[in-house]
Amino acid sequence: MILIEARKLTKEYVVGNFKNQVIKGIDLEVKEKEFISIVGPSGSGKTTLLYLLSGLEKYTTGEILLFNKEINLYNDKEMSLLRQKNIGFVFQFFNLIPNLNVFENVEISAVIAGIKDKSRIEEVLKMVGMEDSVHLYPNQISGGMQQRVAIARALVNNPDIIFADEPIGNLDYNNGIAIMEIFKKLNTEYNKTIILVTHNEDMKKYGTRYLRLIDGKITEDEKVIR
Ligand SMILES: Nc1ncnc2c1ncn2[C@@H]1O[C@H](COP(=O)(O)OP(=O)(O)OP(=O)(O)O)[C@@H](O)[C@H]1O
Ligand SMILES: [Mg+2]
Repeated sequence: MILIEARKLTKEYVVGNFKNQVIKGIDLEVKEKEFISIVGPSGSGKTTLLYLLSGLEKYTTGEILLFNKEINLYNDKEMSLLRQKNIGFVFQFFNLIPNLNVFENVEISAVIAGIKDKSRIEEVLKMVGMEDSVHLYPNQISGGMQQRVAIARALVNNPDIIFADEPIGNLDYNNGIAIMEIFKKLNTEYNKTIILVTHNEDMKKYGTRYLRLIDGKITEDEKVIR
């Protein structure tokens, strides 16, 4: 099943008198259970593409079908429902709430998603290997552990698609590898569709497919043998 379909997608930012086209005609299909890595140089449009595909930003021309419906046809309420129910986001900065412990940080997302069953919180913390640290606060755990919590938070609503923008950009090598292993497990064991932006070419091997973005265009679109 195709979850996202983009056609002739462009994005233009207007800054003062300048128009800067940063996405220059992208065609893309994302199928269920794919794990797509987006690589490419700084400024090539990786984050912009991720934001367009997830509806965080509006495209300039073209079209995007998200769950078989043109993304612009979702009204604000439907879009926020989609984010509550079907989509998870993980970012470079973990954005945990400092005065809440690990459990409570995930609980907040559960409340927002309308999930009352507390066992779901324990379940997702277990999925990322944080079940023994539920009472610790963000400043008591490492960056890698904080990112695990951020991933648990993104998983609590059992999303169909996880969008991740440089999720290991702030981590040292070993913590980065551990986080990539978690994404791989989410893909292989929990059948999550993942679209992940990374600077690091070595990380392509964790996914099923990678795209190379250069100057707003896809210059490579390759399957990965895992
Ligand atoms: N809100 C914005 N307003 C104006 N220009 C923007 C905006 N966001 C991004 N851009 C421009 O769009 C281009 C692509 O930016 P984007 O953040 O998508 O690149 P990226 O590939 O994610 O880079 P990096 O690897 O450094 O994160 C850049 O030239 C950037 O300056
Ligand atoms: Mg970026």
